[in-house]
Amino acid sequence: MSAAFQPYRRARDFGTPKRESQRQVTLTIDGVTVTVPEGTTVLRAAAEAGINIPKLCATDSLEPFGSCRLCLVEIQGAKGLPASCTTEVREGMVVTTQSKRLADVRRNVMELYISDHPLDCLTCPTNGDCELQDMAGAVGLREVRYGYDGANHFGAKKDESNPYFTFDPTKCIVCSRCVRACEEIQGTFALTIDGRGFASKVAASQNQPFLDSECVSCGACVQACPTATLTEKSLIELGQPEHYVVTTCAYCGVGCSFRAEMKGEQVVKMVPNKDGHANHGHSCVKGRFAFGYATHKDRITKPMIRNSIHEPWKEVSWEEAISFTAKKFKEIQAKYGRHAIGGITSSRCTNEETYLVQKLVRAAFGNNNVDTCARVCHSPTGYGLKTTLGESAGTQAFDSVMKADVIMVIGANPPDAHPVFASQLKRRVRQGAKLIVVDPRATDLVRSPHIEADYHLALRPGTNVAVLNAMAHVIISEGLEDKEFIAARCERDAYEDWRAFILEERNSPEAVEKESGVPAETIRGAARLYASAPNAAIYYGLGVSEHSQGSTAVMAIANLAMCTGNLGREGVGVNPLRGQNNVQGSCDMGSFPHELPGYRHVSDPNVRKLFEQDWNVTIDPEPGLRIPNMFDAAIAGTFKGLYVQGEDVAQSDPDLNHVAKALSSLECMVVQDLFLNETAKFAHVFLPGSSFLEKNGTFTNAERRISRVRKVMKPLAGYEDWEVTQLLANAMGYPMSYSHPREIMEEIARLTPTFAGVSYEKLDELGSIQWPCNEKAPQGTPTMHVEEFVRGKGLFRVTPYVPTDERTNSKYPLLLTTGRILSQYNVGAQTRRTANVAWHSEDVLEIHPHDAEQRGIQTGDWVGLKSRAGETVLRALVTERVMPGVVYTTFHHPESGANVVTTDNSDWATNCPEYKVTAVQAYKVEKLSDWQQRFQSFTEQQLEFLRKARAGSEEAVG
Ligand code: SF4
Ligand code: SF4
Ligand code: SF4
Ligand code: FES
Repeated sequence: MSAAFQPYRRARDFGTPKRESQRQVTLTIDGVTVTVPEGTTVLRAAAEAGINIPKLCATDSLEPFGSCRLCLVEIQGAKGLPASCTTEVREGMVVTTQSKRLADVRRNVMELYISDHPLDCLTCPTNGDCELQDMAGAVGLREVRYGYDGANHFGAKKDESNPYFTFDPTKCIVCSRCVRACEEIQGTFALTIDGRGFASKVAASQNQPFLDSECVSCGACVQACPTATLTEKSLIELGQPEHYVVTTCAYCGVGCSFRAEMKGEQVVKMVPNKDGHANHGHSCVKGRFAFGYATHKDRITKPMIRNSIHEPWKEVSWEEAISFTAKKFKEIQAKYGRHAIGGITSSRCTNEETYLVQKLVRAAFGNNNVDTCARVCHSPTGYGLKTTLGESAGTQAFDSVMKADVIMVIGANPPDAHPVFASQLKRRVRQGAKLIVVDPRATDLVRSPHIEADYHLALRPGTNVAVLNAMAHVIISEGLEDKEFIAARCERDAYEDWRAFILEERNSPEAVEKESGVPAETIRGAARLYASAPNAAIYYGLGVSEHSQGSTAVMAIANLAMCTGNLGREGVGVNPLRGQNNVQGSCDMGSFPHELPGYRHVSDPNVRKLFEQDWNVTIDPEPGLRIPNMFDAAIAGTFKGLYVQGEDVAQSDPDLNHVAKALSSLECMVVQDLFLNETAKFAHVFLPGSSFLEKNGTFTNAERRISRVRKVMKPLAGYEDWEVTQLLANAMGYPMSYSHPREIMEEIARLTPTFAGVSYEKLDELGSIQWPCNEKAPQGTPTMHVEEFVRGKGLFRVTPYVPTDERTNSKYPLLLTTGRILSQYNVGAQTRRTANVAWHSEDVLEIHPHDAEQRGIQTGDWVGLKSRAGETVLRALVTERVMPGVVYTTFHHPESGANVVTTDNSDWATNCPEYKVTAVQAYKVEKLSDWQQRFQSFTEQQLEFLRKARAGSEEAVG
């Protein structure tokens, strides 16, 4: 895969999917000898030999269907003309793909299709890139004897309801590729072929407009459609792309690979890359369609400064902004000491950018006050997995799920938060794998078309550890453990301690039932299912980590996997589903205040020496401040300057009143971002950021997969983000002189054993690499802990359940838990600036009918939500997705203030906030909360300051 721009061409299509088999079959096609794995179709075997048989209903992302009859071939000794897309190869088979007879039949088939197809090729958006057009050419269609006057579909109405693609039924050839894509690839089952014969047509759900149907706008049908029936609106508007660049999605931790198909510097469409190792040609609505934010009018492209957050902004040159910042930071350090400033790295930026920010803090600021958003999401994963297994990352590749017999999903909602992985997981479940869902909500994995969890452990928020312990209790007390694995792979004494603990009566399902709300028999059934599977895999999310016992729960998960021998091969493992695109990478790159890149503690003199020699500085041996400590220190007056790259702590962190107070206490707050986000409203310096389309670098996804991010357009503000950090380091007096992120990766590889074998050349060659990649694993490591754990022997840890301090009482009788929704991403700064708002324009409060009725609340009512930390107002959605006593909301819209309500309780080991458990009361209200009213006026004031700065610069230009 080359790094450079490629001239546009449609990705090669082999007609039917690749098959894997130990047995090879040799046949002859048009006199050419071809050898392919058993199970391959004749159509694919021919394509692999460079022989293109005409086809319409077949495509290599879908199982063969055999409806169009265009791919017919002659096979020696066979009767009639079999369809090559549904005929598997046989040893010695002799196939002819071109003859007069075949040509006549194919032309006839095409004539029938074309007689019901508008002949408006010249004005059609897919003109020049249309399979139907290509096939008409391939079969030599010259006339249509049936004429165009008979019955046809030319009058059918276009469906323009979806914001991103149109459905024009006049062009449909009813090949079912879209229907099959929705079923086989996406797993949503939103489309059907309605009616029979000539009347048959594609229908979304109950013949509804796409937008109102079950369609989740993944675009798989658009990609599969061989005609212009389903077409991207951006393509209709901009015309065919001219070139493409392969890059990586900047939204979630799945890390889908895309072809950015371009016209000049304009993205025409984002097409999921068939060779992408994480997504295999699939994507979700965000990565495929929601890229418009990158050129949104709200982008700030000029640096701005001000002395106080109560003053208007002033647009300045880069030089002025950087020297203003460096001067302020130096003054603060001179006055309050070296530790009075710090930085927050971004999990949305590249590895190279994140690495540079932590280097800036350690080398130029001279302290370890650096932290990242993982503090508020997966820091317990780092702690828990490092302690038990020896490495702070997931153990498997996503593809491993296709070998799992039992899949347990805990505290994660992949169809919303990791949609492409969810499609793969659901495919495996449709193939017969069993599914256990541990979640207070009935997510789509509990029940949706063709998916039904075998067990749903609808536990009360905050009781993960109790339930996981109870599962382990069943496994050990019923003798279901893998004794051989435990004896060979785990520390004996630690196991014996854990075993004695887990067998205690307090961990039995019966004892846990009352606290967790999960019937003992359900826990027993799930435990037996998990333990008895040949391969059982665990996937978990923030519903595990964002608790006061987040780290304990991660260790309890590792204990479960170790005691059943479910580690160290494909189909098993412990897999944190990481939220942001590069949260794995930001942790790997040394974003935590106690760890240098590669998770090595700053107190280790040998590690420090390595970096000190390379960086030519002395590194502070003391861990620095975590984000919550930075806030506390700011309020206490000892922490005065903060550089935040691509994070929105004033929306994403808990107890926002506390955060706002901390940020307002800073003397120099520097925000580097695309938009004036919530945090930037408290800033004194705004440094414009660059989107993923404007930079080179790498992201690391949830499966440790490092993928290239490639620049497709110039940075709107002139610099890639790493260049801005470099300018700041130089202005602070620490020299940096990288000319390309490639050089930063070379430094990372030089200093980080797990990255030693990573280079841009190798990434270009292999497409992506899963770390560790070094001498021992030059091609990377898809599965970890294969022969031994990274720490040697696996370490069982005793995991006593300690109920959270956040208890319900008569004043706060409900438990609030928070999460995400498919169409929005994290704090929503990007997706709120795209047409994705069509699906989710505000955060709502899900409440069970029983609780709603008690409070006289109906769907659509304004509901006050009050906790010990704060109060906000949201609209209600009455639904049985949540259980009685539990309410749920998302945090994608700043004005809904979900995090005004969440408390500053946090994980005992890592300070990860307890977002998933907040005791609240909900009640009908008529007006916004006090906080929301203050928020509105503060926002208006800050936007006015921005307008004034922009108007000022226009006047100056004028
Ligand atoms: S919409 Fe496209 S993919 Fe679907 S049946 Fe019609 S032509 Fe085939
Ligand atoms: S966009 Fe995706 S979910 Fe919607 S109909 Fe097409 S394949 Fe199905
Ligand atoms: S948001 Fe996630 S699942 Fe969707 S396209 Fe991007 S990486 Fe893939
Ligand atoms: S491509 Fe084989 S029948 Fe359509």
